[in-house]
Amino acid sequence: MGGVRPQVVAHRGASHENAEHTLRAYLAALDAGAEGLECDVRLTADGHLVCVHDRDLRRTAYSRSLVSETDLADLADLDFHSWKHPWADLDDEAPDPDERLDRVLTLRALLETVADYDRRVELAIETKHPTRYGGLVERRLAELLRQFGWDRADSPVRVMSFSYTALQRMERLARGVPLVMLVEHARSWTLLRRVVGADWIVGPGIAELTEHPRLGRRIADAGHDLHVWTVNTEAELDLCLELGVKAVITDRPAYLLDLLDQR
Ligand code: G3P
Ligand code: CA
Repeated sequence: MGGVRPQVVAHRGASHENAEHTLRAYLAALDAGAEGLECDVRLTADGHLVCVHDRDLRRTAYSRSLVSETDLADLADLDFHSWKHPWADLDDEAPDPDERLDRVLTLRALLETVADYDRRVELAIETKHPTRYGGLVERRLAELLRQFGWDRADSPVRVMSFSYTALQRMERLARGVPLVMLVEHARSWTLLRRVVGADWIVGPGIAELTEHPRLGRRIADAGHDLHVWTVNTEAELDLCLELGVKAVITDRPAYLLDLLDQR
């Protein structure tokens, strides 16, 4: 394989085969050899950071509640497994639900999993719509990182966001923690490129990069590492290798690691 091998980061865990953001999905990713884990975080009504992508719980827990209006104890009663395995009764291969593996995962529990793992694991934490809470998400996150001693530059944690404001806040609260400016459209990069911190990583989406590969080159030429999401096919991985991408964020860590081993 020519060039640098990108780090393989499991997007919401090994979420192609497992219910996203569950401990089951993260342990499967680590078993497969993923070098990093990605998770989205939201605040519960009683102020806990939990690993959930959507604002509401319809898609992944069959509930109409919003995460932000639900206490952690009530979230803990929900089933985050069955939506992914709707035919479990008829499918011998579907895993049986397990309270330890398939309930809501707090960020603290995920940090403990990473801390206890027998090799270094990177954790890419994405704050979702943080600006709504006037900085509370970032303050809670920085507090938690401090408790683990991970609010420094050698931290296995990096913080990602589509919100420039959120990243600026994190830069003040946890100086040195690597930051990833997520970019959805080439246009947003054009707007952001003058203000994004020189040592910030930039995270474009693979769809945008496939359409505008020059965007990746321009970002790299400006001196930023590229962490690209969500890279799930061989063609997408090849483009990332061509562009010298430093980390690929994927739902299919086992598949990508296998492809990389064959190069
Ligand atoms: O890793 C960044 C990527 O996860 C952003 O998109 O919607 O999957 O959180 P989304
Ligand atoms: Ca995400």
